Amino acid sequence: MAQDKDVAALSETEAAEELERLAAEIAKHDLAYHQDDAPTITDAEYDALRRRNDAIEARFPELVRPDSPSKRVGAPVSEKFAKVEHAVPMLSLGNAFDEGDVADFLDRIRRYLNLSADDEMAITAEPKIDGLSASLRYEGGELTVGATRGDGTVGENVTENLRTIDDIPQTLSGSGVPDVIDIRGEVYMTHAAFADLNAQQEAAGKPLYVNPRNTAAGSLRQLDPAMTATRPLRFFAYSWGAASSLPGETQSAVLSAFKDWGLTVNPMIAVCRDLEALLAHYRSIEEQRATLGYDIDGVVYKVDRLDYQQRLGQVSRAPRWAVAHKFPAEKAITVLNDIEIQVGRTGALTPVAKLEPATVGGVVVSNATLHNEDYIKGIGSTGEKIREGRDIRIGDTVIVQRAGDVIPQIVDVVLEKRPDGAEPFEFPTLCPRCGSHAVREADAKTGRLDSVRRCTGALICPAQAVEGLKHFVSRLAFDIEGLGSKQIAAFYDDGRIMAPADIFTLETRDARSLKRLKDQEGWGETSAANLFAAINERRTIALHRLIYGLGIRHVGETTARLLARTYGSFAAFRSAMEASSDEEGAAWQDLIAIDGIGEVVARAIVAFFAEDHNLKALDALLAEVTPEEAEQAGGDSPVAGKTVVFTGSLEKMTRQEAKEMAERLGAKVAGSVSARTDLVVAGPGAGSKLKRATELGIEVIDEDGWFERIGGE
Ligand code: IVH
Repeated sequence: MAQDKDVAALSETEAAEELERLAAEIAKHDLAYHQDDAPTITDAEYDALRRRNDAIEARFPELVRPDSPSKRVGAPVSEKFAKVEHAVPMLSLGNAFDEGDVADFLDRIRRYLNLSADDEMAITAEPKIDGLSASLRYEGGELTVGATRGDGTVGENVTENLRTIDDIPQTLSGSGVPDVIDIRGEVYMTHAAFADLNAQQEAAGKPLYVNPRNTAAGSLRQLDPAMTATRPLRFFAYSWGAASSLPGETQSAVLSAFKDWGLTVNPMIAVCRDLEALLAHYRSIEEQRATLGYDIDGVVYKVDRLDYQQRLGQVSRAPRWAVAHKFPAEKAITVLNDIEIQVGRTGALTPVAKLEPATVGGVVVSNATLHNEDYIKGIGSTGEKIREGRDIRIGDTVIVQRAGDVIPQIVDVVLEKRPDGAEPFEFPTLCPRCGSHAVREADAKTGRLDSVRRCTGALICPAQAVEGLKHFVSRLAFDIEGLGSKQIAAFYDDGRIMAPADIFTLETRDARSLKRLKDQEGWGETSAANLFAAINERRTIALHRLIYGLGIRHVGETTARLLARTYGSFAAFRSAMEASSDEEGAAWQDLIAIDGIGEVVARAIVAFFAEDHNLKALDALLAEVTPEEAEQAGGDSPVAGKTVVFTGSLEKMTRQEAKEMAERLGAKVAGSVSARTDLVVAGPGAGSKLKRATELGIEVIDEDGWFERIGGE
C-alpha cells in the first residue's frame, strides 16, 4: 500500500492518495487534540504524519490539496465560545528532531539572510511548554480580550477564564507599554496542581485526568469561569501578535520588557551565539526537565533580531525564524515507591515497579515492568535495557521509558538521588501468594540459571490457579462469552470456580445453591442464564482449543494446533504423551520428530501429563466436555505439508482466518520467508517478504490464486 512506501518511491497517483489519507488522518487527530482535548496518538506519531505530508508535498508541489494540513494550524473552534479573529495569525512551529536538524535550521537562516560565517546571528533558546497557547489583548495596558489559538486564525473567546490565572495581569504596568498589544504565551498546569486535582477526583470517586496538558485545556475551556478558577493554571508569555509599538529590537529585549510589565516569562531563556551554545542550553534544559514541576517537550529556538525575523517571514503555517527542538520521545523521571511481585500462570514471579505516577509521553504511568531478578540487580542479561551494573532499589529515583504500546520500563537509576539507607532489593525465594519455594531452574545442558524464578506450588498456588483459569477461558482457548478475567477472579474468590471442570458444573451447583448467581451483585436472571448458555455451547470443543487451554508451558496456539493435527484425537494425544515419559521409547521419538516441537517443549508437555493432579483435573473436565477430533494433517489437500507465508493486505479473509484455513488444510504457516518456504500468498502492499520470495525463487500467488489452489476445500 502507498501508506507503507517511502516518499521517494511513490508514484504520482499514490502520492495523491497518500495526501488525501494524511489530510483526513491529521484533521481527525487535530480535532481530538484541540477540540476534545483527548489525543489518541502520541506527539511523536503525530509529528511523523505531518512530516510525511510535508515530504510528499515537497516532492509533488502540484498535488498540494486545498485542505492540506500544511495550510492549517490546529482545529476549527467549537461552537461553545464566541469567536475571536486573531489580528495576526497564531502560528505553529517547525520541528527539529536531532542536532543535524538544528544545524540545518541555522544554515537555512544564514543562507536566506545572506550572512557570512563571520556575521553574528544570535538565537534565543527557551523551553517549549506543553500546554495550550493563548493570546491576550491589552489595550491601554488593560486586558480586554483573551482567546485560544483555535485554527490559528480564529480562536475562542475565553477572556473571563484567562482572568482567573494569577500569572496574567489585568493591567500591564511600567514603562513602554504599547497602546495595543497581543501578548502570546502558553497556559499550563503544574504537576503539583494536577496531582491535587486528581486527588480530589479520587476522593470524590470520579475518573482521573490523564495528563496536565489536556487538563489545562479542559480547564481553560470551562463555560463557567468560577470552575476555571478552581483549577490552578499558569501562563508563560513568549511572543506577541499585533502591537502598536514594541519595547525593543530583539526577541530577548521584548521578553525582558514583558517581565517588567508584570508578565511571567520563563526563567530559562538564553541568548546563544552558535550551534554549540544552543545545544548546550538544550542539554541543560533537558537535564532540568524532570524537576521543573511542569511539562515541557522541547526547546524553542528563535532568531533574536526582530528585523531578521521580519525578513525571514513564514512558510505556510510556521515562521522561518523559529524551530522547536523536540526531546527524544517518552522518558520521565520518577520515584520507585515499591516493588510488587506478581505470580503468573506458569508460576513465574514477575517484579512490577510501583511508581510515583509520572506522565511519560502524555500518559500517566504508575507501573513499569522490572522483568526479573537479574534486571533488578542491574544485570539485564536478556537484552533488556537497564544501564549495566546499576541495581534498582525501592526509594530510587528512576528513569522510565515508554515506547509505543509496550509496557513502560525502567531504563536507569539516578544514583545521586538514592536515599540514605536504601538497601538492595531482596527477591523473594518463597512464593508471595502460596508460600511454596520459588526456584530458578538450571538449564539441563548449559547449567545456566533461568532468569525467571518460579513458584513450585502449581495448583495449590491461588495465583497460578486463577491465571490458569483465565487462560482456560481466553479467546484462543474456550472463549466463553461473559466469562472473562474479571468474572474468573471473582468466581475463584467466592469459591464457585476453582478448577476448569467447575465451569461446566456451575449451573447444576448453582441450582442447588443458597447463594444463586442471579442474586449476586452485577448479575441478574438474564445474565446468569446467558452465561450458562455460553458455557454449554462449549461442551464440545475443537481439540487444539482444549490443548491450548490446558496452559502447558511453551504450548502456544501454534503448537497446540500442531499437536491436534498430529494426534487427531485427545485420547491419542494423551496416551502418546503418557508413553513419552520414556525418552528411549518410540512415542518420545515421534513427539520430537514433529517439525516445530523441540525438546524443551516436548519435556514440558510430558511433565504436564506426569503430574497426578493435572490428570485428575483433566478427567474431571473430560467428564463435562467432548473434544472434537481434529482433521489429521490436511489429508490430501493441495497445500498439506507445505510451509506458507501470507504477506501484504488480504481482502477476502483476515490474517487469522487465512492462518486457520491453511492449517486446517495441513499447511504450516510461517511468519517469514526462508529457503524452507513453499508458497507465498501476497496481497497488495507486500514488501520485503515478497522481495525475498522472488529472490529465492519461491512460488508467489495472490489471494485469488490461493482460493483457486485450495479449490472447494
Ligand atoms: S513560539 C511564532 N515559544 O508550541 C512562534 N511556542 O508547536 C509562536 N509553545 O503554538 C510560538 N512553548 O503553543 C513558542 N517557548 C515557546 C513555546 C511555544 C510552547 C507552543 C505554542 C505553539 C506550539 C508550536
